[in-house]
Amino acid sequence: MKTEVLATHARALFNAAVKRAVELLEAGEVVALPTETVYGLAANAFNAAAVARIFEIKGRPAHNPIIVHVAEAEMARQCVTGWPPLAEKLAKAFWPGPLTLVLPRAQKIPDAVTAGGDTVGVRWPSHPFIQEVIRACGFPLAAPSANLSNQVSPTNAQHVAKQLEGKIPLIVDGGQSQVGIESTVLDVTVNPPRLLRPGMIHGRSLMAVTGKLALGEGAGTEILKSPGQLQKHYAPKAKLVVLKWRNEAELSAQLAAIKPRVARSHVIAHTHIPSQAGFAGVSVIPHDAEAFARALYAELHRCDELGAELIVVEAPPGTSEWRGIADRLKRASAG
Ligand code: TXA
Ligand code: MG
Repeated sequence: MKTEVLATHARALFNAAVKRAVELLEAGEVVALPTETVYGLAANAFNAAAVARIFEIKGRPAHNPIIVHVAEAEMARQCVTGWPPLAEKLAKAFWPGPLTLVLPRAQKIPDAVTAGGDTVGVRWPSHPFIQEVIRACGFPLAAPSANLSNQVSPTNAQHVAKQLEGKIPLIVDGGQSQVGIESTVLDVTVNPPRLLRPGMIHGRSLMAVTGKLALGEGAGTEILKSPGQLQKHYAPKAKLVVLKWRNEAELSAQLAAIKPRVARSHVIAHTHIPSQAGFAGVSVIPHDAEAFARALYAELHRCDELGAELIVVEAPPGTSEWRGIADRLKRASAG
């Protein structure tokens, strides 16, 4: 299949890309679209066959549910059977934006979307392109991240093309994703609400609205409740380790202890930046949670492209704003 890549950086291009994406989605096709978190692989959420194609293209396990993207809270209410006051408050506070609310699922959401479960994750993304597509379609879009299962999520159109070129008819280039890691997933079917996947809307912001918050995955996960629950996820090809060091000698000592020894290691640092000597690459990303999240996946994609065998990431601080980043690094280093 030939994959068309459409730009959106001028009004006429934007309109033409919306028109093409809508045509394909109405025809039951799967297309890659930009969102503010990461790029999504989208299909009509009410069309079970189209959603099944997403699983096929990604090689995604059937037990992993997909987030439904809406434009306006009203559309979210059509995907669920209950809209508690807390969902309303959270939507008012954080939508459109990188927060997914897990709620009781409406009948018309196909099983494939929810992995057979009785809840559905809904999110109103803030990226103007996907908003306009959803409004023009008039139906919500089921969209996981636009990568092959288990790999690093794409934060630009080139990342998508690298993995999905030839497998989908359209990739829309909406620029670099501004958030950079996947949305925060919050289960509001339980009281207090449970944080299933940390993200850039962090615990402290959520608690300002919810009062209480349950953390972590909880016991008994019959249905996989969040992707983060797969221990290894979001992983680059290279082995990834997260280390802390105060100077280069400490870094070298820790690297010497890593077996087997590898030749091509890349360091991603934010505070104690080592010299280039002894490394295939050293990149610096800002010591600021928001900027770090925005840059992280692009750095991981780049290290893979450069053939890194080991990626050494300087440990992020332990504070609440960094929790989503720490979570992704932990999963990228698993296994
Ligand atoms: O930022 C994002 O959320 C991006 C963009 C494209 O919106 N999407 C994304 O999708 O990260 P994905 O499939 O890579 O991760 C979605 C995760 C699923 O793996 C799933 O575990 C969780 O959200 N999720 C979806 N529906 C759920 C449900 N009903 N209950 C619990 N978790 C759910
Ligand atoms: Mg994903």
